[in-house]
Amino acid sequence: MERLDKYISSRGGYSRRDAQKLIKSGCVAVAGEICRQTDLKVGEDDEITVNGQAVCGEQYVYIMMNKPAGVVSATKDNRDRTVLDILPDELKRRGLFPAGRLDKDTEGLLIITNDGDFAHRMLSPKKHVEKKYIAKLDGAITEETIKRFEDGIIFSDGVKCLPAKLEINSETDENVGIVTICEGKFHQVKKMFSTCGLNVVHLKRISVGNLYLDSNLPIGCCKSLSKLDVKQVFVGNIH
Ligand code: URA
Repeated sequence: MERLDKYISSRGGYSRRDAQKLIKSGCVAVAGEICRQTDLKVGEDDEITVNGQAVCGEQYVYIMMNKPAGVVSATKDNRDRTVLDILPDELKRRGLFPAGRLDKDTEGLLIITNDGDFAHRMLSPKKHVEKKYIAKLDGAITEETIKRFEDGIIFSDGVKCLPAKLEINSETDENVGIVTICEGKFHQVKKMFSTCGLNVVHLKRISVGNLYLDSNLPIGCCKSLSKLDVKQVFVGNIH
C-alpha cells in the first residue's frame, strides 16, 4: 500500500506536487468516490481515476540510456546537465533516478528507474553484479596488467579490489581492453589502470549483469526495458 499522491504520480506521470493539487481540487476518485486525502493508503486493487480516467500506468519504469559524455549521473546539478535533463519530457516527472553512476566523461549503459529496491539490489556489494567496460588507454596492456587485475588491484591508499577480468584483442588494438568488475568503487576502472601506469582516455560501459547496451541505441538516447530485460541484470552473477 502507498500514499494516494505517490501512487498517482508514479503511474500517471504527474509530479508529486501536481498529484497533490489534483487530489485537493477534487479531481481524483477512489472506488468512485472523490477523495481529497493525499496520504490515503491505496494499492493495486483500488480503482483510482483522475478526471474520470483510470490511472493504469506501471508503477515502475526502467530505462536503458546510452549515456553521452558531458552529462552527470545525478537527478539535479547546479552546474552540469544531468542524465534526467536529457530524458524525453514524458519521462521527466516519474520520480526517476540513475541506478548507479558513470563518471561525467564515461559513456554507455546507464539504467534509470524509480524502483528503489531494484537499484539497491543492483548496487549491493553482496550481489556482485558484473559490469563490463571498454577502456581505451594511452599505452599497451601487458600480460602483467592482466595478471594484476586477476589478482585484485591494490590502490595506493591500500584499498583492495576484487579480482577483475581484463581481456584484449592484440590483433586489433592492444591499447583497448574489456574490463569486467563486480563492484563499484569511485572511479574504479580509471584507478585500476592508473595503478598499473596507464591512463584511460575513453571509457564506455557495455553491460550490467547479462543486460547489454543495445548497439542500435544512439548516444544520448534511451529506451524502455521490459521486465525480462530487467531480470537480465541479475543473471550470471555470483549471489
Ligand atoms: N569506473 C570509472 O573509473 N568510471 C566510471 O564511470 C565507471 C567505472
